[in-house]
Amino acid sequence: MHGSSPAPLQSSASQGLKGRLRVPGDKSISHRSLLLGAIAVGETRASGLLEGEDVVNTAKAVQALGAQVKRTDDGVWHVQGVGVSGLMSPKGDLDFGNSGTGVRLALGLMASTPLTARCIGDASLSGRPMGRVTVPLSEIGARFETAEGGRLPLTLHGARHPVPITYKLPVASAQVKSAVLLAGLNTPGRTTVIEPVATRDHTERMLKAFGADISIENKADGRHITITGQRELTAQIIDVPADPSSAAFPIVAALIAPGSDITIENVMLNETRTGLITTLIEMGGDITIENKRLAGGEEVGDLRVRSSKLTGIKVPAGRAPSMIDEYPALAVAASFAQGVTHMAGLDELRVKESDRLAAVEAGLNANGVTTRSGPDWLEVEGGKVQGGGLVATHLDHRIAMSFLVMGLASLKPVRVDDGAMIATSFPNFSGLMNGLGCRIEPLS
Ligand code: S3P
Repeated sequence: MHGSSPAPLQSSASQGLKGRLRVPGDKSISHRSLLLGAIAVGETRASGLLEGEDVVNTAKAVQALGAQVKRTDDGVWHVQGVGVSGLMSPKGDLDFGNSGTGVRLALGLMASTPLTARCIGDASLSGRPMGRVTVPLSEIGARFETAEGGRLPLTLHGARHPVPITYKLPVASAQVKSAVLLAGLNTPGRTTVIEPVATRDHTERMLKAFGADISIENKADGRHITITGQRELTAQIIDVPADPSSAAFPIVAALIAPGSDITIENVMLNETRTGLITTLIEMGGDITIENKRLAGGEEVGDLRVRSSKLTGIKVPAGRAPSMIDEYPALAVAASFAQGVTHMAGLDELRVKESDRLAAVEAGLNANGVTTRSGPDWLEVEGGKVQGGGLVATHLDHRIAMSFLVMGLASLKPVRVDDGAMIATSFPNFSGLMNGLGCRIEPLS
């Protein structure tokens, strides 16, 4: 999203949201389809891929590393892989834009191959910690030159003779887990990640489907995930289901806008991702799952959501990994609930596309909502949303979308200073939402 000018948006009270919609493909699965396709043997074909800026940047990166990537008119993405040891040094910088997932997973993929690559990103990504991946990848044998604080811009020198490691995750992060596992693919012997707290498991599931030698054991200290490296992967046909993290916005919109009844189709229901749905149902949300089925190795279903009277609850810290990207949307739902909602275990929110805990709290306060917070918790007093505030989005797509949802049910319209970043994960957000009856419009 370099250099694009800010696009302020506003949302106003809307009632009776109606209709069926499909939100874009899952971001996590989309990145992984391209990254694994790039080192598989043969042509991987992915349909339903998220065509947001984050994923397009990953497509450009794997192309620069030697894979062939092409999108055909039927919307299918074709990736011709180079084999598990076939990546080459790119000619120019790899620009990952706004995406932590893109850069951290790509660093893992490149770390065990003797290539040199300089990685850059936008202002938001350049402020985010990379030490969480460069530390384990250095143990494997990669070397890094980084900007101050171990941040981007960063040059990776992949290992010529990678060594397998056993790495216990110090933070509950699927990105770190995935970076180490991807590095294990071109490392001789057994690379193990120990995950004390379960995080999204798309990397493991997809590695299995691509034919990697992967085993998973549940032990007293967590999940042990082991890759035996230097085996070729086989190209796959992938049908990417809709992203539950994007579905979060129409879900909350329909719950808080009076008289609404919508259905969101084909949403992925992997249980490492459904914490928000569980939480909203506990709060009294009328959400039913219809037509549950398996698609592309994942459980999917259609979500019917109707306006509901919500009640504040205590959201347990242990649920955070399964709804880590959904707290901004949940905080908005909580501000329309009766009573107080307490959210704990939020330390990782501090290092997302923005400091999401601070950005959410500031946005709520700007719209008349009373909050309390600590280093890793947030409490929202529901039922008194005024609106009328201008929300600072800090280059964070989920902050922008969450507060646009807030404006749909607040007394006065809510403005966000920039909606341009929404294109990183949810192209045509306003169009799809307005198709249901929402009033989201550019602010001149
Ligand atoms: C992701 C993992 C999560 C999540 C991000 C996508 C992934 O990040 O916030 O949007 O695809 O692996 P962390 O691993 O940093 O928690």
